[in-house]
Amino acid sequence: MKQINVQVGFLGLGNIGGGVWRLLKQMRAEIEARESIKFTIKRVLVRDLYKRRSVNVPNDILTARVQDILDDPEITLVVEALGGEQPAADYIKRALEAGKSVVTANKLALATHWLELLETANHRGVGLFFEAGVCGAIPIIRTVTDSLQANRIERLFGIINGTTNYILSEMSAKDATYADALFEAQRLGLAEPDPTADVEGGDAACKLAILSTLAFHAHVPLSGIFKRGITTITPLDVSYGRELGYALKLLAVSKRVGDRIQARVHPTFVPLTHPLSAVSGSFNAVYLYGHASGELMLYGRGAGDYPTASAVVSDMIAAARGRQGPAYRMTSDVTMDDDWESRYFIRLSAVDRPGVLGAIASILGRHGVSIASMRQNTMGLDHAPLMFVTHAARERDVRASLTEIGENLATIENVIYVEDMKEGE
Ligand code: HSE
Repeated sequence: MKQINVQVGFLGLGNIGGGVWRLLKQMRAEIEARESIKFTIKRVLVRDLYKRRSVNVPNDILTARVQDILDDPEITLVVEALGGEQPAADYIKRALEAGKSVVTANKLALATHWLELLETANHRGVGLFFEAGVCGAIPIIRTVTDSLQANRIERLFGIINGTTNYILSEMSAKDATYADALFEAQRLGLAEPDPTADVEGGDAACKLAILSTLAFHAHVPLSGIFKRGITTITPLDVSYGRELGYALKLLAVSKRVGDRIQARVHPTFVPLTHPLSAVSGSFNAVYLYGHASGELMLYGRGAGDYPTASAVVSDMIAAARGRQGPAYRMTSDVTMDDDWESRYFIRLSAVDRPGVLGAIASILGRHGVSIASMRQNTMGLDHAPLMFVTHAARERDVRASLTEIGENLATIENVIYVEDMKEGE
């Protein structure tokens, strides 16, 4: 086999870039022997040339000028590991425009600049690879765009953020509060010092936008994804869910019905009998239905330097072989559906006086929201914590009732979706 020599430019040498550097070094001989591909890292863009680094990179290949990579015709492959929307998205676009293939793990840059980046790659006939951008080491992008091409994918459920899954698992296993579980995640380096993107669902929404777009062959914009985070979850919610037979997960859900797509990320009760309920700690999993494949679940590490580098280096090999990147063909226009049907768990805090419960039930009833079960425990408290589980109801009806209840009768403490994961739902 003729040896392929590829000169590579790295953008960034943090956790992900450093992991890619180390894995390439470790696998160099095998990649050369097995694939006949020789990668040479020609330049590495860093912010600070003089910083101490965890990887031993020769000083003479470091640069603080992105032009040294983008304007170098010998560099044909760029590995973007800067993170964040900008300047990463701009650099990716400029690299593609310059005729270089790009491998990135950057879900935010992709989800926010999807159409322009894909269009630029197609126009220039170069590859844009992003397996590492969705669920780290899990090969979900290749599965959806390659291995499942003979399918119409109808629905997809994912635990696609490891930080929140770790926090919810801790809360469940140890009866910990959200604050304590977050603190532990930060201590272990799983959660960022500013955890907003993870705990408010933004990170998962970016991944869901990319996954749904690929799975449904229709552009699902980040702005069309409903998200609700985990910051209001209490041990009471977790334990009540368990009593009812559910595990609490931050679930990414997307479903296509005709030309309507619903895509949402929110705390969800998943039946304890479902394999997703057993995905705990910082692991990720994606569970989907293809009309021909049936049910399918992928499980693994969604973050971390080596798991992410595993996907990046595999993409580099695919790019070196001249592949075009994941096939993306938009075959239809769709409308984002924001009025899905679900069962709901609602926790309220009401004033403990006669008639309040009846008034709340009557507002729910007036909006067509039917109560399946209810619990109240006021003993020793000066207010009434109320927990309801509804039968299937429409999102708009639930929102309208909660607005009315919140204005007059009670504080809305938490809303959790109940996903029974039954076929056809
Ligand atoms: N912060 C993400 C997670 C990993 O916790 O899963 C990168 O997307």
